[in-house]
Formats: sequence, C-alpha cells, structure tokens
Amino acid sequence: MIVAIKPQMNSEQTKASLVMTMQGSALNTRQDVHSQEFDLNCWQPIIFENGCAEDGLTLNQLYEQGKIWSTCDTLQRQLLDLQVALHPKLRDTPMDAARLAAWQQELQEIQRGPIDRWVVYPWSGSAVRVLAPKLYNRLRLDRNRNKITAAEQACLAEQTVGIVGLSVGNAIALSLAMEGLCGHLKLTDMDTIDLSNMNRLRVRVDEIGLHKTVVAARQVFELNPYASLSIFSEGIHEGNIEEFLVGDRKLDILVEECDNIRLKFQLRELASRHRIPVIMETSDRGMLDVERFDVQPDLEPFHGLCAGIQSAQIPHSLSHEDKVVFALPILDSSTVSPRMAASMIDVDESLSTWPQLGSEVALGGASVAAAVRQIGLRKPMTSGRRFVDLQALLATEPNARLAAGAPGHGLKSLENETEKGSEKPSPVDAQIRELVHVACLAPSGGNSQPWRFFHEGKRLWLTLDRQRAHNSFDPYHRGALLAMGAAIRNMELAASHRHWRLKRVEDATCNDCDCIASYMVDGAERDSPRVANPLFNFINKRVTNRGKGTGAPLENGLQRQLIEVAADGQCNLQLLDDAGRLSELAEIVGECDRLRFLNETLNRELVAEVRWSRLEASQRRDGLDLEALQLKPSEIAGLRMLRRPEVAAGLRETGGGNALKDTARNTLASASAVGLLSIDNGAAQHVVQAGKTFQSLWLFATSRGLSLHPMTAAIYMFQVAHDQCLFSERERRLLADLQERFHAILPIGDGHIPLMLFRLSQGVGPATIRALRRPIEDVLLQGPPTRGVQS
Ligand SMILES: Cc1cc2nc3c(=O)[nH]c(=O)nc-3n(C[C@H](O)[C@H](O)[C@H](O)COP(=O)(O)O)c2cc1C
Repeated sequence: MIVAIKPQMNSEQTKASLVMTMQGSALNTRQDVHSQEFDLNCWQPIIFENGCAEDGLTLNQLYEQGKIWSTCDTLQRQLLDLQVALHPKLRDTPMDAARLAAWQQELQEIQRGPIDRWVVYPWSGSAVRVLAPKLYNRLRLDRNRNKITAAEQACLAEQTVGIVGLSVGNAIALSLAMEGLCGHLKLTDMDTIDLSNMNRLRVRVDEIGLHKTVVAARQVFELNPYASLSIFSEGIHEGNIEEFLVGDRKLDILVEECDNIRLKFQLRELASRHRIPVIMETSDRGMLDVERFDVQPDLEPFHGLCAGIQSAQIPHSLSHEDKVVFALPILDSSTVSPRMAASMIDVDESLSTWPQLGSEVALGGASVAAAVRQIGLRKPMTSGRRFVDLQALLATEPNARLAAGAPGHGLKSLENETEKGSEKPSPVDAQIRELVHVACLAPSGGNSQPWRFFHEGKRLWLTLDRQRAHNSFDPYHRGALLAMGAAIRNMELAASHRHWRLKRVEDATCNDCDCIASYMVDGAERDSPRVANPLFNFINKRVTNRGKGTGAPLENGLQRQLIEVAADGQCNLQLLDDAGRLSELAEIVGECDRLRFLNETLNRELVAEVRWSRLEASQRRDGLDLEALQLKPSEIAGLRMLRRPEVAAGLRETGGGNALKDTARNTLASASAVGLLSIDNGAAQHVVQAGKTFQSLWLFATSRGLSLHPMTAAIYMFQVAHDQCLFSERERRLLADLQERFHAILPIGDGHIPLMLFRLSQGVGPATIRALRRPIEDVLLQGPPTRGVQS
C-alpha cells in the first residue's frame, strides 16, 4: 500500500516531468517504456517522501500506467539491521511486532520525521522502500567502521571527486560510492557500452548502447539512492573542462582514466593551475600514478616522463601509432608488462585495441579508492608511480627475475667485456694510422667493426675480431669477412690516392690468429705511375641511408654499370625492379625480420647491437644508433618494447608481431631496385674479396646519387634455417618456405652463396646520422697479432 508522499527535489529531473513524459506517451508495457528515448537515458531515481498526498497520487498513477512493475519493501529488515548496527548487544534478541513498533517510534523521534522513502528507478520500473537518508547512510556504511571511523567518513563525505573515463573509471566510481569516499561525484565519458566492454565492465547485456555515464550513474544510485552526482555524457571538451574541474563544485581529486592523450596533458595542466591532485590507474601491473598538484603545483606532468610536452602541441585526434608514441613515455616501456608491451605492437594488426582485464580493472578501482581515501584523510601520499602488481606478488621469485631483465644490465656486462681486451697501443706511424682510419670507415653488419689491426714497423696486419664478428645467424662470419673486405678496399683506395705502397705479403705465422691479410706499408716509396681512382672521393660520403626513396626506376645504363662493377670483382649481381616481385620480396624480408625480432637468441643479439640513446651511442661508438635506423616513432616504440625478452616471448606465443613486418614492407616499397650479390665459393678469402667488390659497388652507387641500404637478415637466416638449436621446428619450417619463395624471385646458381641483399633507392633525403667508429687506439694495436690477444 502506498502512503501519501511529498516530493523531494534533490533530482534535476523532477517528478512532474517524469509523470508528464510518462502520461504523454500513454505507455503501459515494459517494452514501450524502454522504447522511449526519455527512459533510455534517464539515470536518476525519484525519491518520494512519506506525507505528501499529491506524490502519493503520482506514485499510484505510475503504477496504473505500468511505469512501475515491481515493488520491493524490505523496510522491516532494514530497521532490524539498523537496530543491531546501533545496538550490537541486541543481535540475538527476537524482534516481535511490539518491539518493532517501539523501535520505529524511537527512530521517528530521533529523525523528527518519516524514517523511510520510496525510491522509483525509472529504468527498471521498480519502486523500492528504503530508510531515510541519514539512517540509510548510517547503516549502509556501518561495516566500514572502524577501518574508516565515523569522523573520517564524515570528512570524506565532503569531497568532490571527478572521474574522466569510465572503463576503469566505472570500477573506481563504484568503489568510491560503495565505500562512501566522496560526497559528490562528477563522471564523464563520451562512449557507449559495447559487448566488447563486458570483459571488464560489470554491466548488463540490455545496457549495450547506453552511455557509459548513464550506466555508471545508475549503478551508483542503485547502491545509494541518495548519492549526489553529475554526469558529462558528451565527454570533456574546451567548452566544459573548467566546469568539470571547478564549476560550482571544485574537484578535490581528479581521477584520470581516459585514453585521449591530448586531454590527459590538458587535464594535468589545469589541475596544476587549480591545485587539484590527479590519480591515474593503468590496469597493467597495477600501475598507480599520483600527482599532488594540490601541494606541488609546479610538478612536471607524468613525473617528468614527458618533459617539455604540452597539450597544445598534441593534435586533437591521433592515429593508434601516434598514440603509442605519446603513451609509451607515459607508461615507460621498461616497466609495462610483457603481455601489454607485446599487445601494443599488435594493435591494428591482430588486436583492435590495447587489452584490459576485468580483474585488473577491479584492482584499479580498489587502488584508486585507497588513494582517494589517503588524500581525503590527509594521510601521507607523495607524488610518484607505484605498482600494485598482483602477478608479481603471486609468482615465485619475482624480484630475481625482474632484476635479471632490468634495463642497463646487458649494457654493463658488454662494457666490461670491451674493457677486458683493450690494450692501449703506443703511438704509431702516421701513415698506418691514416690507412686504418680510412679502413674503419667501411660498413659492417650492425656497425660491429669486427676488425683489429696490428702493426710493427712497416708491417700491418688485419685480423678478424671474433667476439665482434659473432652472430648466431652467421656462423661462418661471412658478414664480418665481407666488412673486412670493404675495409681493405678503403685502405687500397687511400694508399693509391696517396701514392703509397700497400703490398700484400704472405705471413704463415699468423694463420692461427684469424689474420685476414698482412701488408707492408711504405709511405716513402711511391706506387707510381697510378691513375687516381675517383671512388676514393666517395669513401667519406658513403653511408647507410635507410630513408625512403621515390621508387623511380633505375636507368638501364646504370643497372648495367652496377652489374659490371660486380662482375669485375668475380661476383654475381642480380637486380630486381619489378614492382610485383619487389612487393612479394618485401613480404618475405618482413616475415624474416619478424622472425628475427621474436627469436630468443636473435632478439638478444639484435638488442645488444642497438644503441638505445645518443649517449650510449657516443660512449660506445659502435652498434646501431637507434636514430640512424630512421624508424617511425611508433616503430621505435615497438623496438624499445622488444628489448625485453618476455615481450618477444609473448608475441611468439600468440603468433603476433605482424606489425614488425611493416618496416621492410614500407622501405622496399620505396626502392628503385633490390640487389643480390652472390659468389660461387664461400671460402673466407673469397668472401673478403667479395667484400672489396661490394665496397666498390657501394662507392660507385654513392657516386651516382643512389642510396644503398643492406637488408641482410633474411639471407643470413636462410644459411642457418636448419639449425635446431637456434630455431624451433615451426620457425625452421617457416624459414624453409620463405627461402624457397625468396629464390623463386631471386634465383641463384647451384652452390652459389648469397652474401648481400640491398635496396637501391633514388631521391632519398640525407641520412639522419653517421654511424660512429671506435677510436683508433682501440682497433690499432702494437706488435704482430698473437692468439692471446685474439681470444
Ligand atoms: C655485412 C653487412 C650487413 C649489413 N646488414 C644490414 C642490415 O640488415 N640492415 C641495415 O639496416 N644495415 C645493414 N648493414 C649496414 C650497417 O649497419 C652499416 O654499415 C653500419 O651501421 C655502419 O654505418 P655506415 O654504413 O653508415 O657507415 C650491413 C652492413 C654490412 C657490411
């Protein structure tokens, strides 16, 4: 039976308007109710207080119109519960009708008015009888005590908290509401619920299509009909951002959970201006960020991880790739979980967006609620990033494993190794130094500079530095020998240019010292008459330029000249310029790149080859400077994540990482031609000879304005495609297939060995950076080579 009721005007949507809308549409079935726009988007309950005849009538009308189809009256139960909460000793005393009436009377006196309300939830057609606000809140939050004392609860009820983004934000809003951690909530999100949200959002299937704000608000009101909240369903924009942050209820805490990068920065800039602390939870490894702009308004946003970036510099809409570029510094690629890192690489390929788990979202709700409590109660909570990493906590020996993969670990051990072998030479003859300097300008795989020079008097030896030459996919050191050949070619050109004698001498004593060549150098004795070789002038200009070309075809004359240069050096050069076959080749090369990135050993070696910062590059003066790779920011971001073996392992497991093929696809699409240099004898000296030819070829290409970019991973991996220690069975099968496809496009003679695959391009801009070379003191050592020095 409905008692007389009096309207309570805490709702923006008044009872009058509700009734009018309902009456006007003459609805009487559940389906009809839901088909109305008004009902679809309503999010506030209407509260009816006892004692108002007019409202009693309204409520009755709602019943008659079929707008309320369920009632729930559990007032007696709530009263009992309340009595036990207020007087725990009465727990076991039976409650009879007389005692209940007396208790009701007592409460009415304390309340000085009705002790109950009827709450109508328009979206579910239910009318529910609940205790009046003070009693309701007292009882609902009773079990918080005394983890949260009554005084603390009252203090928290003064807070206004704003939540931007209602995926994790939904869990946060509910945790805050459940625990009573704020007096007013502002919620915003511009999205609607989709089925694909339902792995992490506790919503109902019949809520698909509803605004996330509407759903969150309803959920809060279903917990607490007296909640106070406002929603911004169109999201945050220039027109309402101030209103959201300040408006008539300034936020005490901003919880930022959106994926709009520009907005993230903008919110922090304004939070700093208005001195509002910001909390962010990232649903990955329980990452929780606290930025106390309230006490440190000059704090750098995101703990300084994005120093110098301001919202105004960020475009309003970003592609996924660009988002990753901004998101990675924020997330810090070295700490993001391996699965998340691997997934970021695969977004737009095999994944539609970044993953988020229900359990992590729930944890996010809990972490943020704890932080809101902490700040609200003025308890210590400094700015910074913390991890509530459940997986690590649950795993065995988590810290040891994480420490082993910590950034800098690999670098340190390599540095030690380099130090071990470096014996500083005494000052050397100027001519030899000059020749060695020019030799070192030669290219080498991964800029490994796999050479060591020894000198004594006029004698100069060139030896292979096995440690530097090591690469699991090149067990015969063919890449290193090729580089040595290129270095010799440079030396020969320099000697000839200077009219110095550089005479090759046989030296049996250094056969077991990886000696590649031994020379007599005589600067005084002129090697005349000689015609200067113009290629010398291009030694300094030659560079690995990985930029994109125009794709314009090579002139026939130029193709022929290149092939002749190769043939002069007993090498076979094939040039491929057919667009269709080039694109098939790009797929093969891309797939090999992917395989290399994801293979445990090859990934480790690649990671060690890259110099991840300018500082590291300038200190080490070898390896591949990240900047020289001329990658897109998103590709760099992906590469940084692949530094971590677990990320590659994750992608291996899921068969992901298809985006790793893109670099090869894109660069090859801009090529004028692709060259494959091969020889018919793989003996070391033949490979060195081919290296000389290759260098001539590269210098010649440079002289003709062509960019040459070696892309060798595929052909070197094919050499070891059957290696069971290096590759899994799946990888071996894939490689065998790729190799077959490769040679269908670029066939070579029986017994021929492919040594160098490269891209030739025209119209490429200048290379971003020149790869550094190690100081001459590190590569030029005194005395004849000895086995001891080599090992
Ligand atoms: C045998 C060999 C293999 C190479 N493979 C690649 C390759 O696969 N991808 C690439 O970008 N550069 C490759 N390079 C180029 C080297 O990375 C480059 O020569 C080195 O970083 C030094 O830079 P520079 O050529 O600009 O002097 C290769 C070079 C040689 C000699």
